[in-house]
Amino acid sequence: MAKDFDRMEDSNRSTNPSIHEVSDPGRRVFLLGGIGALTIGALSPWPAGRAVAAGRGPLIGFKSVPVSEKDMVLVPEGYEAVAFAAWGEPVGVPDNMPAFRWDAGNSAAEQAVQMGMHHDGIHYFPIDGSSTHGLLVMNHEYTDDGLLFPDGKRNWTAEKVRKAQAAHGVAVIEVALKDGRWEMVRPSKYARRYTASTPIAVSGPAAGHALTKTEADPDGRTVLGTLNNCASGQTPWGTYLSAEENWAFYFDGPAERDADQRRWGLLRNGLSRWGEHDPRFDAGQHPNEFHRFGWIVEIDPYDPASVPVKRTALGRGAKEGAWVATTRDGRAVVYSGEDARFEYIYKFVSRDPVASGGAKANAALLDHGTLYVARFDADGTGRWLPLVQGQGPLTDDNGFADQGAVLIRSRQASDLLGATKMDRPEWIAIDQDARTLYCTLTNNTRRGMPNRPAVDAANPRANNTMGHIIQWTEDDDFDATTFSWKHLLLAGDPANERPEARGNIRGDIFACPDGLALDARGVLWIQTDITSDEKGRGEMQRLGNNQMLACDPATGEVRRFLTGPVGCEITGLTLTPDGRTMFVNIQHPGEPLTPRDDNLEVPNLHSDPADPRRYSNWPDFRPDGRPRSATVAIRKLDSGPIGT
Ligand code: FEO
Ligand code: CA
Ligand code: CA
Repeated sequence: MAKDFDRMEDSNRSTNPSIHEVSDPGRRVFLLGGIGALTIGALSPWPAGRAVAAGRGPLIGFKSVPVSEKDMVLVPEGYEAVAFAAWGEPVGVPDNMPAFRWDAGNSAAEQAVQMGMHHDGIHYFPIDGSSTHGLLVMNHEYTDDGLLFPDGKRNWTAEKVRKAQAAHGVAVIEVALKDGRWEMVRPSKYARRYTASTPIAVSGPAAGHALTKTEADPDGRTVLGTLNNCASGQTPWGTYLSAEENWAFYFDGPAERDADQRRWGLLRNGLSRWGEHDPRFDAGQHPNEFHRFGWIVEIDPYDPASVPVKRTALGRGAKEGAWVATTRDGRAVVYSGEDARFEYIYKFVSRDPVASGGAKANAALLDHGTLYVARFDADGTGRWLPLVQGQGPLTDDNGFADQGAVLIRSRQASDLLGATKMDRPEWIAIDQDARTLYCTLTNNTRRGMPNRPAVDAANPRANNTMGHIIQWTEDDDFDATTFSWKHLLLAGDPANERPEARGNIRGDIFACPDGLALDARGVLWIQTDITSDEKGRGEMQRLGNNQMLACDPATGEVRRFLTGPVGCEITGLTLTPDGRTMFVNIQHPGEPLTPRDDNLEVPNLHSDPADPRRYSNWPDFRPDGRPRSATVAIRKLDSGPIGT
């Protein structure tokens, strides 16, 4: 997500120490040897990735594209990118495929069977192992209500709330490559939507906890909906993990917010205005509903009748996403971070190994295990600190009566443990073979400001407008409690007037890294999310529209692969198993280029409904249309592997 939404979150006033030691980028950024394969054996592109890479020339073979401010997607010579599955397209539910109305006049019921708004994390699930026929599962993070309704936020009604809720969540669509073009297969028995009002089960230690019980759900085991679904992961057992990121801002708080509500960023008046017509989002009336979001949701895309599950053992947070590695003995290790200023990076180690037999055989795998939070020490080592009730300071006396309370209040638990406050952790990429992880730290303009944490070794720049990528290697195996770390790179623009914003990129410049994934050939793909209001501040002027780049982690070389339309964020990518199609999501083309105002508690997030095409009209360019988030399918004209 771009927007001030996530940049607003700055609620960590805990006193756990920062390291107060600045790393020397020239010393700390050194190069990683080796390339890796994806975690996900059966689902991954090129299970034999190393051999393929070794035999076929340089890792990155394309000619980079220049910075762009055009209202289009640009890819290198020899490639094509075709948009499809845009917001509002019917997903393909049999006998229920309402067409998109260009005036945004679709009803809530119609939106609930159409693609949601603001595409984000995405994964390809092959059907019978195919690279030309499969499912795409993707998140719809949030809505621009100026585009969602003909009259925007005016005349706010219960129907509008229902439509906004229906435009959130997750879509499952069937897709196929026909005559060189990817298309949605409609109708499809797989096609469905999960929205901000779909019943979702709760499992793990916080299921049925006193803090998650509500009047409507006295058992605390069924939540209506998932929302602000940001990035996503794919498990080795064939399921999809969707992260609820900035859910806190959908709630309206009471006049006096308690310490817990303040720590979780609850606003007096949330951004959604859902609480005006759906009392669940009035946290004054229903304080526990607030505890029922911020979880990782597991979805079995192959089984349309399956019920998604909020996996509380993985911890609550403004989680960006969830990414899975496996230990040598087959246990799942799920990495995640909270994308908020000064929040933390986590991993969960499952108690049991992954079983053969797919989703059903692993239905309880993510309910039992140990959650840890990361501390990055100044000497380049680090430690995983267990969030286990009764251990260390996580006692009843400190407000943690049971493990459910630790998980629901994972931020406070991590504060007490002395975890390292990071510059907004976004995506995490996993090199399964090297046991190396990469994490984008997108930016943090409050770092080093008065009454905020100073720079530290892991987050070495004050007023970090540009962001950086950190990497660490687990000692021995993914369940290790110690690791060593360094920076892969500090993003920036060497021509910037401010030395701290220049960075040390070897190759094409960028800022605000967000999406990140390592493909089976060993290419680290980086996607950027410079907010449109940042563009107006000057430092980002030479960086153009948001973009995607390829990095060779072995050499540090970075090459620009794609630039997006005006006002968009590039987020979400997935490859077919043969590595010959890459799907990338283009989110919020036409995001309003509003000047930034740090004094606003609630920034203007919405387009002007009277002028929906003001900044972008991608991808349809209809005179009566509006910009729409969409997926682009990228192919090489010679059908070769992406990136070569
Ligand atoms: Fe939804 Fe942190 O991006
Ligand atoms: Ca972002
Ligand atoms: Ca993101």
